[in-house]
Amino acid sequence: MIYADNAATTKMSEAAIKRMIEVANENYGNPSSLYVFGQRAKEILEEAREDVAGIINANPKEILFTSGGSEADNQAIISAAELGKKKGKNHIISSKFEHHAVLHTLQKLEKNGFEVTLLDVHEDGLIRPEEVEAAIKDETCLVTIMYANNEIGTIQPIKEIGAICRKHGVVFHTDAVQAIAHLKIDVEDQNIDMLSASAHKFHGPKGVGFLYARKGILLTNLIEGGAQERGKRAGTENVPGIAAMATALKEAYANLDENAENTRKKRDRLIEGLSEIEHSALNGDATKRLPGNVNFCFEGIEGESLLLLLDDKGIAASSGSACTSGSLDPSHVLLAIGRVHDVAHGSLRLSIDEKLTDEDVEYVITAVKEVVEYLRGFSPIWRDLTTGKKQFIL
Ligand SMILES: Cc1ncc(COP(=O)(O)O)c(C=O)c1O
Repeated sequence: MIYADNAATTKMSEAAIKRMIEVANENYGNPSSLYVFGQRAKEILEEAREDVAGIINANPKEILFTSGGSEADNQAIISAAELGKKKGKNHIISSKFEHHAVLHTLQKLEKNGFEVTLLDVHEDGLIRPEEVEAAIKDETCLVTIMYANNEIGTIQPIKEIGAICRKHGVVFHTDAVQAIAHLKIDVEDQNIDMLSASAHKFHGPKGVGFLYARKGILLTNLIEGGAQERGKRAGTENVPGIAAMATALKEAYANLDENAENTRKKRDRLIEGLSEIEHSALNGDATKRLPGNVNFCFEGIEGESLLLLLDDKGIAASSGSACTSGSLDPSHVLLAIGRVHDVAHGSLRLSIDEKLTDEDVEYVITAVKEVVEYLRGFSPIWRDLTTGKKQFIL
């Protein structure tokens, strides 16, 4: 079995599993309890907070543990919106290809009187900082732009966007769920005010993540109750999960350069191999993308059928289409970069890590070529394209 869907989720690392079990076994006290048992759990929590903060050059007090990326995104955006409202500012800037955790939160705010500007994404999958600046107005209270896109892996000019926000006194949040553990992040150097992360994307456990919020940004509670997380996120902390997340993150950063280099080579070979398929195109810039992301459109096929046939060949991959929701709508990300519906339907995302062997890479290239050819063999769209009834786009 070849697992090429690491952007969906990752396998937990041995070290993270070990840490999770160890903490669950030995330190099951409630961190809010005053006796030693509880205090040891509290220490573990604070050690994890220091580790996480150190990695992104933040202060531990600026880290809030959450149930994952979605919660962190929701809390960041709602907090900045509430802060804006108090100052009479009700305009938010984001982009058309954000994750739904961001887009749906923004839609909710729009219903509550906020004005949202969703910036266009260029064909290369990148947002232009000057367009962010042009969209800022006196009422702007938040800019939220993802660090790296979850489908096409393109890496945004975060530092430049952050500098623009700082210049205009606007809070800058970035959803770094796909970027963290793959790229070096420094919230100070990159002018980031808020950042979301999720452990299951970097070989940590599911259902745990964190929000970085710069000192001075007052957070709005999404969950009311006890005084955990400095009173900003109620509920007994997931101590084993949080400890395992810190372990996974430290592990990722200890091997970052080596893993990224290794993965990048395999990514580039996959891109080279799949580009040989006629009427295909890579989605997003070829180099300003995550080390493990490959995303292609193949004209004349349906992404869902491609995935099922690849599954038969032992390859777990993903397509951009929202098939899980039962809808046949193509990916909003591919539409945002200008792919037309027919083309966007035939997409394939491979999100690999350093564990993929060179043999696996060659096997995947061969398998995708075979499956695309097979599917085109009985595709009515392909027939129309090859008989000249329809024009090729790619
Ligand atoms: C860019 C991005 N943001 C947010 C999320 C949501 O994270 P979680 O699954 O931890 O809620 C994901 C997960 O797919 C993601 O890729």
